[in-house]
Amino acid sequence: MTTRPEWLAAGLPHLWLPYAQMKTAPAPLPVRAVEGSRIILDDGRVLIDGLASWWTACHGYRHPHIEEAVTRQLAIMPHVMFAGLVHEQAARLAARLARLLPGDLDHMFFSESGSVAVEVALKIGAQYWLNRGEERSRFLAFKDGYHGDTLWAMSVSDPAQGMHRALQHLLPRQIIADLPRDAATAEALDRLLERDGGDLAAMIVEPLVQGAGGMVFHDSEVLRRVAEAARRHNVLLVCDEVFTGFGRTGALFACEAAGILPDIITVSKALTGGTLPLAATVARRQVFEAFLSDDPAAALMHGPTFMANALGCAAAHASLDLFEREPRLAQVAAIAERLTRELAPCASLAGVKSVRVKGAIGVVELEAEPDRDALVRRFVEAGVWIRPLGNIVYVTPPFTIAPDELACLTGAICEVLSEACAR
Ligand SMILES: Cc1ncc(COP(=O)(O)O)c(C=O)c1O
Repeated sequence: MTTRPEWLAAGLPHLWLPYAQMKTAPAPLPVRAVEGSRIILDDGRVLIDGLASWWTACHGYRHPHIEEAVTRQLAIMPHVMFAGLVHEQAARLAARLARLLPGDLDHMFFSESGSVAVEVALKIGAQYWLNRGEERSRFLAFKDGYHGDTLWAMSVSDPAQGMHRALQHLLPRQIIADLPRDAATAEALDRLLERDGGDLAAMIVEPLVQGAGGMVFHDSEVLRRVAEAARRHNVLLVCDEVFTGFGRTGALFACEAAGILPDIITVSKALTGGTLPLAATVARRQVFEAFLSDDPAAALMHGPTFMANALGCAAAHASLDLFEREPRLAQVAAIAERLTRELAPCASLAGVKSVRVKGAIGVVELEAEPDRDALVRRFVEAGVWIRPLGNIVYVTPPFTIAPDELACLTGAICEVLSEACAR
């Protein structure tokens, strides 16, 4: 039995935790510090981090290059409002991202979270058509998708998913289709687009991996079919790379790996290497140009208070430096290879439906939803931080994780699941 620190006893009654039934949720674990791929708990226990803080800390925690960049920026200017004023970090970051992103995806709208980046993408999509004299009021999205917790973002997330089920009847109605994985689903998508394409502002997809909706993978061919369908039916395509962006699937951007060019892309999470909240909604030139007009009403009316936060932009530059200087994508490939080998024994456990790996994402899908709290407790006892999503037990470690640390994660999964499956 470990004692709770005083600050937790004093503060916990005043906290409202994410995705938690506050009446029954177990108390969260108090964290003292983070370092590399490790989380140090208040009582001194150390956990190997299997999640990289919701997929953000791609270089591990407290990378000195990012810390230095943020500290330097803090001494000059932590933040300044972004309307009527601009600063070097944001301007250079916009130009740098434009160079990195495929095609003419070169106009960045900065915000501070993935959900807001998606909300802005959909707003841009709807207003793009309005500015061209057409009113298109709906979006098409895919089953198993997750795009965030703001209103339009929730409405394009899979409605059957537990997360936002209680609010479904209050959300704007969108079209939720099957991904075109085969000829029949491709034809069904085409039929939907023929029927409703004229009313659709945009289609939105998480390229190659649908993350929070269950770590569901698809291949490049499926994504190309989505992109071709969007073109054929004259609907804008939004690729939500909030999870997949910056190396997670093995390429810097998933859409680039699949050879497609969306009209709008959203990035966040690993953009700052997991240190500060920052996001970008990036539009192709012709989308941006639809907002250029002598009519003030044609402007994009959005502007988060902390837009283009200078500390966040400095962290993003430092993170991009690390992608240039250090072998991140080779590290992802090595993690993929190890995950494939080390998770393979789980495939033969009773109660395991499938084991799959893409880039630095390793998944063991169970037949049934386990008692998550009990499983998390066992993982903590085994010295790792892993938190299943429903029946999906997964790891998305920092790309800098050492082989022995990764072996702790995969070893704990094999051990804890074989106990759980034996019961
Ligand atoms: C694909 C995708 N889009 C959007 C979001 C929402 O991002 P945020 O939690 O920063 O609002 C997430 C978060 O997990 C995500 O995975």
